[in-house]
Amino acid sequence: MMRSEPRALQLNDQGQLKHFLTLDGLNKAILTEILDRADSFLNMGEQSVKKVPLLRGKTVVNLFFENSTRTRTTFELAAKRLSADVINLNIETSATSKGESLLDTLQNLEAMQSDMFIVRHSESGAPHFIAEHCTPNVAIINAGDGRHSHPTQAMLDMLTIRRHKGQFEGLKVAIVGDLLHSRVARSQLHALKTLGAEEIRLIGPKTLVPEFFAQMGARIFYDLEKGLNDVDVIIMLRLQKERMQGALLPSESEFYRLYGLTESSLSWAKEDAIVMHPGPINRGVEIASEVADGKHSVILNQVTNGIAVRMAILSITMSGQLQNKMTDSSGGQH
Ligand code: NCD
Repeated sequence: MMRSEPRALQLNDQGQLKHFLTLDGLNKAILTEILDRADSFLNMGEQSVKKVPLLRGKTVVNLFFENSTRTRTTFELAAKRLSADVINLNIETSATSKGESLLDTLQNLEAMQSDMFIVRHSESGAPHFIAEHCTPNVAIINAGDGRHSHPTQAMLDMLTIRRHKGQFEGLKVAIVGDLLHSRVARSQLHALKTLGAEEIRLIGPKTLVPEFFAQMGARIFYDLEKGLNDVDVIIMLRLQKERMQGALLPSESEFYRLYGLTESSLSWAKEDAIVMHPGPINRGVEIASEVADGKHSVILNQVTNGIAVRMAILSITMSGQLQNKMTDSSGGQH
């Protein structure tokens, strides 16, 4: 199968986003535009009428081939606050029948004249595949694909960091735990580098923090105390057992002893460090309850910020598609 470059695929001729598949290749201006727009939507969330008509008359389909609560619900809320009509489809699928079932599903949904598909799939590359095969002017948003990428999660994390720390310059950010299976961490790495964080540290056991991450501009630590020393932001990750093959860990209790974020390990970070987690959290496995519910935790802020970031991404890609359509109908080159 011929694959087009995701960066080329997701931008229109004017360099605006028309799909949102990966952060790889997106520049600081685009990421900052998303954060600025999300900030303005966040202020709107405090008003009694939370709706704006930016997606009125548009049909958005949540196409989730893999389970999700937070991500699906916040996408749904985001689309509804933009006045779109939203349909939720949870489709169980097997990896082997991927190509066939994806195309079949796609054709059926296209026949319903949808304007946007929000796609979560256990196979890396599935949203990209859909973006290549769907009819023009339908926006595809990646809501998490395999262990490849979860760009809207990374952007809501960036919004949370910016709102608490003001800027990225000078920040030391630690990502702790199961890096190997984490699409969230891969997207966060792109975002943090592009937005100018001073240092990105990845902390965990050798089996879950492979050395190739160093090529992505991060420092690797196998010791939690050394890794957390002096950091401004701590991002904890869940052990993604559904993606693990074979024994990568001695035991959960051993993992907690060495890498769990407790009140005592948190004291190694800066005094005003914030604690983040994409969820779902496993208390007593990667994070202690006192820390998850404590004063450093911004885990629930992340959820709220997720709605605003998704509103920003949905409205930006929809106008990128519209612009594309206008260029097409005026005879623009593609
Ligand atoms: C993450 C995911 O699905 O990749 N969760 C999320 O989107 N909120 C992380 C995880 O599953 O651990």
